[in-house]
Amino acid sequence: MTEPPLYDREEFYNAYLTLPRSQKGLDGAPEWPTLRSMVGSVTGQDILDLGCGLGWFARWAVESGATGIDASDISVKMIERAEELTPAEMKPKISFAIKDLNDIGLQEGVYNLAFSSLTLHYLSTESLRRLLGLIFASLKPGGRFVFSIEHPIYTAPSKPSPEKLHDGREVWPLDSYAKDGLRETNWLGGVKKHHRTMTTYLKELMGAGFVLSDFDEWMPSEEYTKKEPMWKFERDRPMFLLMKVVKPIVH
Ligand SMILES: C[S@@+](CC[C@H](N)C(=O)[O-])C[C@H]1O[C@@H](n2cnc3c(N)ncnc32)[C@H](O)[C@@H]1O
Repeated sequence: MTEPPLYDREEFYNAYLTLPRSQKGLDGAPEWPTLRSMVGSVTGQDILDLGCGLGWFARWAVESGATGIDASDISVKMIERAEELTPAEMKPKISFAIKDLNDIGLQEGVYNLAFSSLTLHYLSTESLRRLLGLIFASLKPGGRFVFSIEHPIYTAPSKPSPEKLHDGREVWPLDSYAKDGLRETNWLGGVKKHHRTMTTYLKELMGAGFVLSDFDEWMPSEEYTKKEPMWKFERDRPMFLLMKVVKPIVH
């Protein structure tokens, strides 16, 4: 019997629902203001959201004037909850669907914006390559793909948790950076993610035809860590990588 997707496992799902970003939505995601500036205006736009989770971005996009949004996720539980959280008046503009990014198909030339938050590191490089090709084809010329992933410095270590030095300082044990592949982490009881170097990400994006437009190695501001001390360690090494790439207009 095949295992259910990670976010459909009762224990993991319940733990995920306790996170600030699950409860407060985009306001509980500290990297959102930077990501939002990369997204820009969505008024009158057709949007794709890959790995949409509880649908917070889809609802924000509709509130912000998007024409329509196709949002999908592999997890039945996440999509069911996304539907529950979505007010009836928004439903005509959002299509939530259960889809695996490993074998998804996409319509060509229809979207102004493709978006994906903290999902692509669940895919192997082979799957990512296939998906990037589909995303590129699904965008209209000049369309953009904005996404966040866990930063390669964050995903690299063979034992990804802070280590205490003899002088009491906590450091990130960065090893295996050059070795792309699966990593087992203890986040919310155990999660497997794919580590890739920055070079791999950039070469895959360029290979699909994208042009880099914006880039941020997101870390919380000092001001933010005063408000939210649990984020203090994240100032020592970037946790998230945010990128905006564009499908060029060919004349
Ligand atoms: C960290 S959550 C992020 C959810 C949402 N994008 C957000 O930022 O709030 C990662 C999401 O990726 C989804 N996911 C993981 N692997 C996937 C796959 N192969 N196909 C589609 N979705 C996937 C999970 O089910 C989960 O909802």
